[in-house]
Amino acid sequence: MAKEIAWNSVDAGYGRTVAVEGITVRLSPGEKLGILGRNGAGKTTILRAMMGDAKVHHGTVEIDGVDVTGMPAYQRNQLGVAVVPQTRDVFRSLTVRENLIVASAERDRTKLAVKLFPRLGERMQNLGADLSGGEQQMLSIARAIMTKPDFLMLDEPLEGLSPTLAQDVMKSVRKMVEETGLGCVLVEQHVATVLDFCDRALVVQRGQMVFSGTTDELRGRPDVLESAIGLSAVSSENE
Ligand SMILES: Nc1ncnc2c1ncn2[C@@H]1O[C@H](COP(=O)(O)OP(=O)(O)OP(=O)(O)O)[C@@H](O)[C@H]1O
Ligand SMILES: [Mg+2]
Repeated sequence: MAKEIAWNSVDAGYGRTVAVEGITVRLSPGEKLGILGRNGAGKTTILRAMMGDAKVHHGTVEIDGVDVTGMPAYQRNQLGVAVVPQTRDVFRSLTVRENLIVASAERDRTKLAVKLFPRLGERMQNLGADLSGGEQQMLSIARAIMTKPDFLMLDEPLEGLSPTLAQDVMKSVRKMVEETGLGCVLVEQHVATVLDFCDRALVVQRGQMVFSGTTDELRGRPDVLESAIGLSAVSSENE
């Protein structure tokens, strides 16, 4: 079981472009880290650097103290790190059951997926294409946990969902973390969700880390919330 993932002074980007700079953070199983920032700030790039999908120009990414910066994505997955991409990772022409089995044939895991996401249990024979946005998101997360990761990184899982569905998804994610003890990275633009769910947070602004600390500390930093995320986002969520 992987016990830690770490970004050490990471500069990462695409081709010669550097999209994020100086990212340093580590995470243990059971911990919940939120990554906040506006569109284009570099949130997804931080996750991609861990998975090998963005070019690391400087620094290292580590799993259990092993430098995996040059390792292919599937090997990082075997070491216990999984990602639920922003685009939702669902096969539209396969049923819900098939989507789960393709990820792993282990029956216990299918049972866990259905326990965590009861809606999926009701739609096992439906095609991925016929699911609502929220259900596709649930399936995408369920697929990611089929491989028993120790760390799961969720990239804006609530994007485009109604408030009710978003609440349902977060309820299942919470249950998932409690039941499996995995470490969770939640990329979000909704500050309230991160403050509510995460122990720690990272705030990125134009590729730079402008805050790293506990969510309690972040609550006391309206300056960070205002400049990096926009206070209007915070106040509208609290209405
Ligand atoms: N495949 C790519 N090739 C080149 N540049 C990219 C690529 N993906 C992202 N970028 C650039 O890198 C920067 C950071 O993008 P990133 O996707 O990490 O932002 P983000 O914080 O996840 O934004 P969003 O909230 O919109 O998803 C942006 O300037 C973006 O245009
Ligand atoms: Mg993104």
